[in-house]
Amino acid sequence: MLRMSGCLILCILFNPALIRVSGDDFQGATHMVAFEENSIGYNNSVATGAVAQLQKQLDAGTIKLRYDDSYGYLLSVLEQLKVPQSSQMLVFSKTSLQRERISPETPRSLFFNDSVYIGFIPGAPLLEVSMADPKIGAVFYTLSQSKTEPPKFQRNNQCLECHASSKTMGVPGHIVRSYETDEKGIVDLASGTSLVNHRTPLDERWGGWYVTGTHGHQTHRGNLVGKKAFERQVKTPNRDGNVTNLNSYFDVSRYVKNQSDIVALMVLEHQTHMQNFITRLNYEASLQFQRYGHVRYLTNTADSFIKYLLFAEEAPLTNAVSGSPEFVRDFTSTGPRDKRGRSLREFDLQKRLFKNPCSYLIYTDAFDTLPAPIKDLVYSLLWQILTGQNQSPTYSSVSPESRQTILEILRDTKTDLPQYWREKPTAQNAAITPVLPKLNP
Ligand code: HEC
Repeated sequence: MLRMSGCLILCILFNPALIRVSGDDFQGATHMVAFEENSIGYNNSVATGAVAQLQKQLDAGTIKLRYDDSYGYLLSVLEQLKVPQSSQMLVFSKTSLQRERISPETPRSLFFNDSVYIGFIPGAPLLEVSMADPKIGAVFYTLSQSKTEPPKFQRNNQCLECHASSKTMGVPGHIVRSYETDEKGIVDLASGTSLVNHRTPLDERWGGWYVTGTHGHQTHRGNLVGKKAFERQVKTPNRDGNVTNLNSYFDVSRYVKNQSDIVALMVLEHQTHMQNFITRLNYEASLQFQRYGHVRYLTNTADSFIKYLLFAEEAPLTNAVSGSPEFVRDFTSTGPRDKRGRSLREFDLQKRLFKNPCSYLIYTDAFDTLPAPIKDLVYSLLWQILTGQNQSPTYSSVSPESRQTILEILRDTKTDLPQYWREKPTAQNAAITPVLPKLNP
């Protein structure tokens, strides 16, 4: 009897089906990492990303920011940090340090590129800026919207009250949520989800956000302000869907664009979680290397990382999605492209977000500067999948053709690949292929 119940307990504890819920990352992914302690030393770390570099140039007087009465420093900051205006999205749920300024009539506009995010609310005293720093994860700044010389991006760790939690993988990170709000934009925390990424079905996304663009019969929670709007949505799905301009919702003239682009939103949602994952992997690897001198225990974590990198659990599109052509152009134009002109930044938007499902964030400094042992591990696991040696059902959504295309694109565009990536796996060169770690069942 005792043995029976012991077995039962063990079976429950170690049954992978019970431990790993589909759509989760790895076990423990939401536990906080002790990033303020010396081993990581976040608080005393020096940021090196684009914002820190711009500040140096402002201090030296080699760059000046333009100021204008409508937007303060916004347009000049976007230009200097190479953040496209076409990425504008609008969120009206009351969050951030300037929450009293945000409402459905005065939403917060957000702009982003691969590493920088900028928040602007008309008339608010501060621009909010965050940066996926190559070394230390997300770093937060405010910039006063009063004219000052030189303008100062102030690092602000108060932002971590919300930007470091189980919803950012326990590290300083970025957030996208989807909640119902009342008419004023106050969030009903019982109503939605606090972690939106590319796995979230469209019909759960965008509560508290405006959304412009078309998406056929698929429904979503964007453009719904207050309980009544949500009730109406049940009776008349998409009454507030397929919206192509926002004039009937609020006075758009104080914003850079009349849009909260659906494709930009989908990219943001993929990107924020991917960046948090890169930071988490970076921290985990540093801690494990300090403790054990190797990162072998991170094999399952690295596998989950690749699962997200390859969009293995992406929520499928059932109708085509279309947004701002300008955003699509700006986003795809930066490449890089392989010899045949293909890139990881090409959109699909018929069945999924990207044509070649491997995250373009593999080109960022944050990925490139991952500690060498963990990057080696990620590359060896990724190689197994792309060459078809790993046929695990986890990756069944990535077709053999996609694997081959991604492999070819990476070979042409990534300069830091291990040598064995360049060879075809044959009996002759087997000697140079890595000793591949076995994944736990
Ligand atoms: C009260 C919680 C809270 C605080 C404090 C907060 N934020 Fe946020 N922030 C959010 C949430 C939630 C989002 C996601 C959008 C939304 O739902 O409003 C967000 C989004 C952002 C974004 C867009 C990128 C992303 O993560 O999605 C930027 C930039 C940003 N915040 C900057 C800041 C800065 C800078 C500070 C500190 C000065 C700050 N935030 C403080 C809750 C907060």
